[in-house]
Amino acid sequence: MKNLIRNNIKNLQPYACARDEYKGDEGIFLDANENPFGENNRYPDPYQKELKAELSKIKNVETNQIFIGNGSDEVIDLLYRIFCNPGKDKVIVFTPTYGMYEVSAGINDVEVIKIPLTEDFQIEKVSYDAYLNDETIKVMFICSPNNPTGNSIDNDEIEDILKRFKGIVFIDEAYIDFSTKESWLKRLNEFPNLIISQTFSKAWGLAAVRVGIAYSNEEIISYYNKVKPPYNVSKLNQECVLEALKNSKKQEEEISLILKERTKLVEALKGINGVVKIYPSDANFLLIEFQDGNAIYSDLIERKIITRNRSSVVKNTVRISIGTKEENEKLIKEISLIS
Ligand SMILES: Cc1ncc(COP(=O)(O)O)c(C=O)c1O
Repeated sequence: MKNLIRNNIKNLQPYACARDEYKGDEGIFLDANENPFGENNRYPDPYQKELKAELSKIKNVETNQIFIGNGSDEVIDLLYRIFCNPGKDKVIVFTPTYGMYEVSAGINDVEVIKIPLTEDFQIEKVSYDAYLNDETIKVMFICSPNNPTGNSIDNDEIEDILKRFKGIVFIDEAYIDFSTKESWLKRLNEFPNLIISQTFSKAWGLAAVRVGIAYSNEEIISYYNKVKPPYNVSKLNQECVLEALKNSKKQEEEISLILKERTKLVEALKGINGVVKIYPSDANFLLIEFQDGNAIYSDLIERKIITRNRSSVVKNTVRISIGTKEENEKLIKEISLIS
């Protein structure tokens, strides 16, 4: 593992904030140049201990195996800063996939090797064989369920990569709560090179709150803590997530509603003229191929229904998030008027 970490990060003296130097809760706090008045006048807990304690119970991992980020987009960006030397190292992404892996690579001046997924959006074994011993490749990103295709990546292929690739395997499970497949979290401790990211933005309905998570081994998490901005998750955001965790029943009900709506939407779309293919989905969205994806996308916009045109990555496709019952009914009504 030590060989994978950038030298400057290994040697970095991290910023010691006031809350690092004095860890107690009681006393008169005159150490952080805060304003003594107000409700939100104090800096938040930099290590989000309460939140991690809750997650540790729910997810059955140690608190020191958890990193909380300002959305999982921060989790992705910090990954580059820990492992990838700008202008030298590379990462692998399996395309089409979530765009931020590449954007973050660009920001960090890291080269991206793109390996196309198969026709049914799976990872083909021979496709990555040639790269397994290249020491400049530091990370392989596997998004499962994958965005924008919606399918989960076969576990056999993921396991093969975890066992044979010497670099970091980053499994993005942003949509895992909508899937029938199990999270890799149960097997976290089997693989020293595994980082799993999850988020509160999707199944938990807290996209505005910006809280993402990385689960890994204690050493990798300690590097995450070393490079993160001191107070990267606000107190308000931590509280919001803690509140949601208290009411996990609400989340389960919402997921089950979304899954029911997904099934209904698939059925309804099958009867629509111009629909060529509905890709199987393990997520809260569908990727749909139309005879003319660009036209459907624009026509829907005119009708004030905003979808995501993915025709530039998968020909003639539009990605549609599952909405409420009323929203989905309106979508089907409008789409049938177009076709
Ligand atoms: C696969 C995937 N990962 C991560 C994210 C970003 O999540 P967050 O809101 O936690 O930054 C998204 C958002 O769409 C996503 O699709």
